[in-house]
Amino acid sequence: MINKALEALKNGEIVLIFDNDNRERETDMIVAAEFMTPEHMTQMRNDAGGLFCVPVSAENMEKLGVPFMTDIMEEASDKYPVLTELSPNDIPYDEKSAFSITINHRKTFTGITDNDRAMTIKELALLCKEGKQAEFGKYFRAPGHVTMLKAADKHVLERKGHTEMSIALTEMCGLTQVAVCCEMMDDETGGSLPTDKAKAYAEEHSLVFMSGDDVITAYKEFAAKN
Ligand code: 5RP
Ligand code: CA
Ligand code: ZN
Ligand code: ZN
Repeated sequence: MINKALEALKNGEIVLIFDNDNRERETDMIVAAEFMTPEHMTQMRNDAGGLFCVPVSAENMEKLGVPFMTDIMEEASDKYPVLTELSPNDIPYDEKSAFSITINHRKTFTGITDNDRAMTIKELALLCKEGKQAEFGKYFRAPGHVTMLKAADKHVLERKGHTEMSIALTEMCGLTQVAVCCEMMDDETGGSLPTDKAKAYAEEHSLVFMSGDDVITAYKEFAAKN
């Protein structure tokens, strides 16, 4: 299954990853950000419906000069003490939030349309691909409509979120380590989409569905060989 997932990502296709029964219990639609299109945005907005986020490798985030949101909150907490009170120290499914800042590409108008969000996402990946991370502020503004997520340094070996799984997959593909993820929600219940429904969606749309455990196992094998 991992090879099918890697091929799909390299072809710019959506893959579905369910994290774990002991974690969020969410299936995210994931795409390699360098291939993001407005059509992906439309499909993911309609059929996934969660929050659009852009996982970025720790290395790229460091080159961009962008920290976790919690680091920014900590730095600003002397002036704004409420930021300490808001610490996300009680997330029920993980120790640490991957959230960073929100951005828009400077060529976007509102930033929320399918064209605008796809542009922000793809251009961020291309900036990283071309090694132009130092020019981040020239091309992007913040706050915006796309949430950046910072992957843990050793990604899935350190944290087992969709953030890290997306980045592990892009690394295994040899692609730019910037991805897009969006949770699949259930229109009938308003909750996260149960795995049987996510699997049925994958089948109906000829997409790969994988468990987080399978991604992590494949990454460990990859890391041992590389
Ligand atoms: C942001 C989220 C999603 O679950 C996304 O998958 C990233 O989070 P994580 O790395 O914790 O899985 O909550 O919409
Ligand atoms: Ca929907
Ligand atoms: Zn997640
Ligand atoms: Zn989530």
